[in-house]
Amino acid sequence: MRTDTGQVFHLEDYKPTDFLIPETHLDFRLHPERTIVKSTLKIERREGVALDTPLILDGDELKLESICIDGVALGDNTYVVTPDRLEIRGLPEAETFTLEITTEINPTANRQLTGLYRSSNVYCTQCEAEGFRRITYYLDRPDLLSVYTVRVEAETSAAPLLLSNGNPGEKGTLDDGRHFAIWHDPHPKPAYLFALVAGDLGVITDTFTTASGRPVNLGIYVEHGKESRALYAMDALKRSMAWDEEKFGREYDLDVFNIVAVSDFNMGAMENKGLNVFNDKYVLAEPDTATDVDYAGIEAVIAHEYFHNWTGNRITCRDWFQLCLKEGLTVYRDHEFSADMRSRAVKRIAEVKGLKAHQFPEDAGPLAHPVRPRQFREINNFYTSTVYEKGSEVVRMIRTILGAETFRKGMDLYFERHDGDAATIEDFIKVFEDASGEDLSQFALWYDQAGTPNLAITYDYDQATKTFEIEIEQSLKPTPGQPSKKPMHIPIQFGLLGTKGREIRPRATKGGLVKDDVIHLRKRKERFTFSGITERPVPSLLRGFSAPVTMTSELTRSDLAFLARNDRDEVTRWQALTQLLNSKLTSNSKRVRGGKPATIESSSIRLLGELAFNNALDEAFRALCLNVPSESDIARELGANIDPEAILGSRDALILAVAEAHGEKFEQLYNELEHHGAFNPDAAGAGRRSLRNVLLDYLSVADGNPKRASKQFKQANNMTDRAAALNVLVQRFGTSTATNDALQAFEARYGNDALVMDKWFVVQAMQPGESALGKVNELMKHQLFSLDNPNRTRSLIGAFSSGNQTGFNRADGKGYQFFAETILTIDKKNAQLAARLLTAMRSWRSFEPERREHAREALASIASVAGLSTDVRDIVERTLA
Ligand code: PHE
Ligand code: ZN
Repeated sequence: MRTDTGQVFHLEDYKPTDFLIPETHLDFRLHPERTIVKSTLKIERREGVALDTPLILDGDELKLESICIDGVALGDNTYVVTPDRLEIRGLPEAETFTLEITTEINPTANRQLTGLYRSSNVYCTQCEAEGFRRITYYLDRPDLLSVYTVRVEAETSAAPLLLSNGNPGEKGTLDDGRHFAIWHDPHPKPAYLFALVAGDLGVITDTFTTASGRPVNLGIYVEHGKESRALYAMDALKRSMAWDEEKFGREYDLDVFNIVAVSDFNMGAMENKGLNVFNDKYVLAEPDTATDVDYAGIEAVIAHEYFHNWTGNRITCRDWFQLCLKEGLTVYRDHEFSADMRSRAVKRIAEVKGLKAHQFPEDAGPLAHPVRPRQFREINNFYTSTVYEKGSEVVRMIRTILGAETFRKGMDLYFERHDGDAATIEDFIKVFEDASGEDLSQFALWYDQAGTPNLAITYDYDQATKTFEIEIEQSLKPTPGQPSKKPMHIPIQFGLLGTKGREIRPRATKGGLVKDDVIHLRKRKERFTFSGITERPVPSLLRGFSAPVTMTSELTRSDLAFLARNDRDEVTRWQALTQLLNSKLTSNSKRVRGGKPATIESSSIRLLGELAFNNALDEAFRALCLNVPSESDIARELGANIDPEAILGSRDALILAVAEAHGEKFEQLYNELEHHGAFNPDAAGAGRRSLRNVLLDYLSVADGNPKRASKQFKQANNMTDRAAALNVLVQRFGTSTATNDALQAFEARYGNDALVMDKWFVVQAMQPGESALGKVNELMKHQLFSLDNPNRTRSLIGAFSSGNQTGFNRADGKGYQFFAETILTIDKKNAQLAARLLTAMRSWRSFEPERREHAREALASIASVAGLSTDVRDIVERTLA
């Protein structure tokens, strides 16, 4: 583990390397505890670099065995080795020379899961961001591109499968029951894209022929016996390959494309060139084990990693400050892919929900940072929803501003101009300026200014002159290191609605720039005047959620209801409904906190009913409407003085009122939606299930007993319905026998299936109220629980801390105390995981004073420990700052 040195890295300190490594030859002799890595590097001194300039290579927990230059062992006084680097002085005068380094590493002891490690006896690697230096000494930075040839040697019986990047070459058997394979990747790449996998795995294969006729062999490697669970992932892969050709003109560029699923992985998946390594959660699915959400996640992550082949691998990042160059863009691409595969509006609403649930709170709290940060202590802590999701929103806004066609031209230019480069955000913006002739310098502030802009909007209609005026004022609060902000270019897609929802087309506009259906807000405060408007319109703003902002507007409750009923954009309909419900849920939370009962408006109940029963709408959309704002949504709306118990009370009161009002029709619809045929994970089937399962919750609340959920749990023929029923049982009837029976039955049936059991841990970690902590403590002692496995740790500790509002944020602070102790334990094993989990406390300042003080104490107790990892030190100090 790297412990904190206090060092901070700055964007403006970027300097190219003094040396290049045009060729990298790696030879691995795999052994569980003593793997030998021999690295042979062709080194080239850059022109103009002084002859006495030392070569400084990165390292981390390496044991140096030997070091030679041009075949001659180096003398002790010509190099210095420290834990994190190897500095070589007295280099040959020749412009190029060969450096040979042998290191020994212990994959079995590697619990950080970066570098070379073992997961269920499979050797695998994870090198992004700085894991390659845990394999050998190297210039471990993304702007150092090299052509790799890799020889892997292992015991044949333990590792019949030997994989690395690129195309397969020679293989053969050796004495002593060992064998080897050679892989060559012709595309120069940075070290973070290196990968090696060796072990005994099952496989499914397929082929894909690219548009220009290149045949590609596809392989997905999984634990033996799980092959059939990889078929959906393979299907998603082939669809991704075809889509990237069609929508972006991007073809695959190697003879093989391999995916390996492993069960111990810190993140979702990794885009190593030609050899993606996946958290098995994003590969394995069968109707009996995976929910619709799991299927959608697999489709999205398979696509994401595949799309990185161009946005990330062929064009990589100059330095880690540019991380959003590959991540924001690739998320944008996978979002578009999923939108094309499913319902676009439903997909967009899911994205907006995710953005608001994760990125907005990040932007509003102590961990706020720009999409392109300018400094970091630990890069691992910047794989955030700001870099990924907000980064994607920024790309989407470029398309909204330029139009789809010009955007595509800009992308084409990006690929043409930067293929093979380690590029920057400036390069990216420039291609769109060149393709469009527009100046995007103000727009570029989106990459530099942290925080979520708010738009304060006022309207004025003048019947006499038939003009309608919209005035918009943008504001952006200070964030760490950024006390004052400049106005940004914000594209606001809009429409004006007349009676019955008819779209009104203005004759002309004055004031700020309006192009087609987009208002371009560019000043701090700007007025847009529309003429030829014969009736007072209801404005529909931010259609499609065209910018990641919040809005405060003068729209009345009846305007919002009107939009929810009539707008042609479903995203706006959903947003209007959400805003309407939120205002009630927040005011009720305050009432409940003050000891008063919640009040419910019959108009909202009617509106929800209309949307739920409207057969003209997508079932998935209707389900989204019925899924009223979550406890954390309400907390975010409140922003301060949060009391989770009061929020839960307010939310439950709404659900009960809706359930009681619509009980009969809900029941009828619930019965109608029952599906008897075979399970199909497509969008239509998933939509039907999501509507039926949200109805199950309402009906169970109305029934006041667990019978219906219990019955669904027993009769379900797929995991979506089974898990939904179990969730209702635990959330609504936690202590009932029916719930205990279901939990036991689930465990008996799936006890050997780690991914399914993760769901069992999650559902219990989320049980509301003060009893949750005891449950979590009890589950930590369960024989299937282990802090060594990230998925399992996240399913219990992560779900509890980031998903269980009332259980975690207990008034007595015991939830925080437990969490702090657990984080310290995890930090010793897996620093990255510990730091990510700890971000669950980033909104601690928005709680009511008692909880806030307990949270501060818990955070301080972590900060006071000596020898924290850099990862946790960085998060805890920024969170407390
Ligand atoms: N680059 C990976 C992705 O987004 C994420 C990742 C980062 C995985 C760091 C592992 C380590 O696709
Ligand atoms: Zn990515």
